[in-house]
Amino acid sequence: MANRLAGKVAVITGAASGIGRATLELFVEEGARVIAADVQRDVGSELEQRYPGVVRFAHCDVTQLPQLKAAIDSAAEHFGGLDILFSNAGRGGSPVGVEDFDAAAWDQTQALLLRSVAAGASYAVPHLKRRGGGSIINTSSVSALQAGYASIDYSVAKAGVLHYTRVAAADLAPQKIRINAIVPGFIATSIFGNSLGLGAAETKAMADRIAEKSGIANPIGKPGLPQDIAEAALFLASDAAAFITGTHLTVDGGLTIGPRSSWDKSNPGALGSALGLSPEQMQALRERRPVG
Ligand SMILES: NC(=O)c1ccc[n+]([C@@H]2O[C@H](COP(=O)([O-])OP(=O)(O)OC[C@H]3O[C@@H](n4cnc5c(N)ncnc54)[C@H](O)[C@@H]3O)[C@@H](O)[C@H]2O)c1
Repeated sequence: MANRLAGKVAVITGAASGIGRATLELFVEEGARVIAADVQRDVGSELEQRYPGVVRFAHCDVTQLPQLKAAIDSAAEHFGGLDILFSNAGRGGSPVGVEDFDAAAWDQTQALLLRSVAAGASYAVPHLKRRGGGSIINTSSVSALQAGYASIDYSVAKAGVLHYTRVAAADLAPQKIRINAIVPGFIATSIFGNSLGLGAAETKAMADRIAEKSGIANPIGKPGLPQDIAEAALFLASDAAAFITGTHLTVDGGLTIGPRSSWDKSNPGALGSALGLSPEQMQALRERRPVG
């Protein structure tokens, strides 16, 4: 299929890498013109050269609100309006426990992952109203739903994104502006290497390894790729989602279905562990066979 975003203009934050970049590529393929907002200038000019007249780079640190506003306003300047905002820029949080709370690190994470989402929507709305409506999509995370996937500050910010999305939807519905979130699972991008402070080559190698091998972590048995999230963003951006607002789409290969033992029969689960049973013995118990 093509042209599902024909004539539309989108701003994508964090468009230089991973989920944002895959979404940019898909949106362009589907006929949109895109403002790529990111801190990575070199990738930004690469994207402009690759898609002349279709992609414009806006150098923008989303924690610096005047820069974020300028990036969003630039959609109207360059492409005559705005229909879609994908608030997606992000990186890992600060990996400290409850007792080691660091106020500056906390504020930085909230500014990057949550405040930028609220501010971005506020800057986009006047443009979307002029078009008679539009779609805002925010990137959350499975860490918003359960513990164990990311640091506390990151997880709380991503949970805030989900609730912001719900509450903002009520405010924006009368203007025909839809706002939804995507909850990605474990997706092969640079975020892991960057969060660990690795260099560019190691970060890429890590993302490649995740893309190749991480199917084992997901019930669906396939690695999560940036394109998987881009497809969800395309759906939420397009008219196919015209009746969807204030909700989230979990795109995680089943990661949050339940504990590993619910889908991986080689895992004894909590009961098996508590009883000291092997996976085989546990399976026998489940099947009401004698436990050897
Ligand atoms: N990869 C995953 O497993 C995963 C899971 C859940 C949620 N997410 C979320 O997905 C989003 C995209 O991350 P990704 O996995 O594609 O990582 P990524 O590192 O590949 O891409 C993140 C992009 O955001 C940009 N960015 C970072 N800080 C910025 C800032 N202050 N201003 C503007 N741009 C900035 C980076 O330059 C980069 O281009 C993030 O919000 C992340 O929290 C990722």
